Amino acid sequence: MKLLPVTMYGDRILRKKMDKVKEVDNETIELITNMFDTMRNASGIGLAANQVGVNKAIFIVDISLVEGYEESKPMVFINPEIVKYSEEKTFFEEGCLSIPDIREDVERPESVIIKYYDTDLKEQILDADNLMARVIQHEYDHLQGILFTDLVDDETKKRLKAPLKRIKKRKIDVAYPISETVDYQLVM
Ligand code: NI
Repeated sequence: MKLLPVTMYGDRILRKKMDKVKEVDNETIELITNMFDTMRNASGIGLAANQVGVNKAIFIVDISLVEGYEESKPMVFINPEIVKYSEEKTFFEEGCLSIPDIREDVERPESVIIKYYDTDLKEQILDADNLMARVIQHEYDHLQGILFTDLVDDETKKRLKAPLKRIKKRKIDVAYPISETVDYQLVM
């Protein structure tokens, strides 16, 4: 089992749009395997490649540990594109392995249709609702450089300023390997 350090709020790769994958080689398969290990070790149900510092449009989801979703299979989404969002929206409390100890209600469409490629680079299409739609949208956002804390109201954003700053400075206690802190004064 190989655990990859998880990038934290403030790391620049979390703000970038990820590059498309052109071929699924051994290195890509190894990355995906390591992402599953890293996600499960951290008790996560979704993880995007930029959360392990890799610039590739890949995310993984496994919600089978959540009550009521035991039958759900682990999934890999390569070069995903959400092609339809439902008009109905719901609020749900989200968290993120890159934003430890912060959980907030986020409003999102209740269901989505997502086009993506599997590990054989075969095009797939999935109609997702409930928790699956929620996780897919959260991870898809990661690949566009968007974090769930961007989607809360202004009052909540204000309240999150100090805790997010602590994460940037690594003044946090996290039970899984995380990326090293950088001197933000030197980052232009
Ligand atoms: Ni996340």
